[in-house]
Amino acid sequence: MAYIAVLGHGTVGSGVAEVLFTHAESISRRAGEDIKIKYILDIRDFPDLSYSELFTKDFDVILNDPDISTVVEVMGGLHPAYDFVKACLEKGKNVVTSNKELVAAKGAELLSIARKNNLNFLFEASVGGGVPIIRPISTCLAANEVSEIAGILNGTTNFILTKMIREQMSFATALKLAQDLGYAERNPAADIEGHDACRKICILASLTFGSHVYPDSCYTEGITKITLADVDYAESWGGVIKLIGSVKMQENGKIQIKVCPMFVSRESQLGNVDDVFNGIMVRGDATGDVVFYGKGAGKLPTASAVVADVIDCVKQQTSRKFLYWEDAKADFVDDYKNGETQMFVRCKGANISEAFDAAYKVFGELRELSRKNPEEGEAAFVTPMMTEYQLEEKLAALKALGVETLSTIRVSDY
Ligand code: NDP
Ligand code: HSE
Repeated sequence: MAYIAVLGHGTVGSGVAEVLFTHAESISRRAGEDIKIKYILDIRDFPDLSYSELFTKDFDVILNDPDISTVVEVMGGLHPAYDFVKACLEKGKNVVTSNKELVAAKGAELLSIARKNNLNFLFEASVGGGVPIIRPISTCLAANEVSEIAGILNGTTNFILTKMIREQMSFATALKLAQDLGYAERNPAADIEGHDACRKICILASLTFGSHVYPDSCYTEGITKITLADVDYAESWGGVIKLIGSVKMQENGKIQIKVCPMFVSRESQLGNVDDVFNGIMVRGDATGDVVFYGKGAGKLPTASAVVADVIDCVKQQTSRKFLYWEDAKADFVDDYKNGETQMFVRCKGANISEAFDAAYKVFGELRELSRKNPEEGEAAFVTPMMTEYQLEEKLAALKALGVETLSTIRVSDY
């Protein structure tokens, strides 16, 4: 019998309990022994549950119980999650977590403690919810040199954008719906400002390139400035707007990493990833492009990934698993402004022809875009490919010609 403890009984924690109770038989067959939840830690009381006797408010009871071989951290946030996880690893307990904030901030340190103590620290659910991505990158794709990863990594924002595009739903209504469905972070600013996707692409970058990439080194832009006008222009361009996290290894040995909304072609696989689904493209030198797709958030999809990690811990009580990366290398992350992109620009001049005249003067060639019922003096276009530094200069030149930029969105080639 393997005894585990679950820290947190919210959306994910209650899903973990449900999956372990309802699939007990098949799980014990796969793990090689029965897995039993001995404790659940939560601040709240849950007196009406059939398993309410498992609840405790005292973390030390869990830490000091030698029966507990694996602890599942699904509370979220940095503190006390970090302190609890570190204490468990130092006490000789495996840890499974869905907490990307924790892994993105402290992954190198916690992996190092786990390695030193010959333990597993697993976090499949921290990226992609129910979509397997951590394990495939570290095992199935291990024979490849991965040069690039790009994906829709946040279910909440993809759900909001899909509702805005398909149903013309307001941003606020769509966000409320995502919260009610259990997709959003406790503070949904983490979703809509792009921080959650940033943490996830940093975890994937660290895992792929072997060196911790901290979230503050990743340029991050959320979806709060996207308007229905931008959505219309994306459609006239032949695509949709998606929040994309991407990392690319360059010839100079540095990575370009960023999170931002992008125009994505409807012809591409990522352009068809809608609602709460995530889609993650991994470019390997041997495999070519591989795309992972599935539900990126929600109680049961996430619990599925967490419980799979628990099964792995139980199966490998005496051997450490494969995940590892070193602490950050200096100068590993390139200035994002050195990166090249095409940019969608929506701007406003005294009238539309003056706005376009100024834009041609500044950018040379353009792809003009149109929409029904534009604002007075509104022009929209896609620029040629150039570095972000060059774009910055050109937008300043456009302003000097009396044309105000209303929005800019990068254009992807995925
Ligand atoms: P919830 O807020 O629904 O659940 C967290 C639970 O932990 C709550 O019951 C909370 O209690 C409890 N808790 C918080 N702090 C403590 C503490 N110090 N001691 C005891 N209990 C505590 O979050 P989720 O289940 O949605 O998410 C959990 C983690 O999983 C987060 O890191 C999240 O980013 C991640 N995740 C979430 C997914 C999802 O779809 N929801 C998908 C993938 C990952 P109380 O409510 O009373 O504060
Ligand atoms: N809030 C996150 C999302 C949960 O919407 O993707 C899954 O990590």
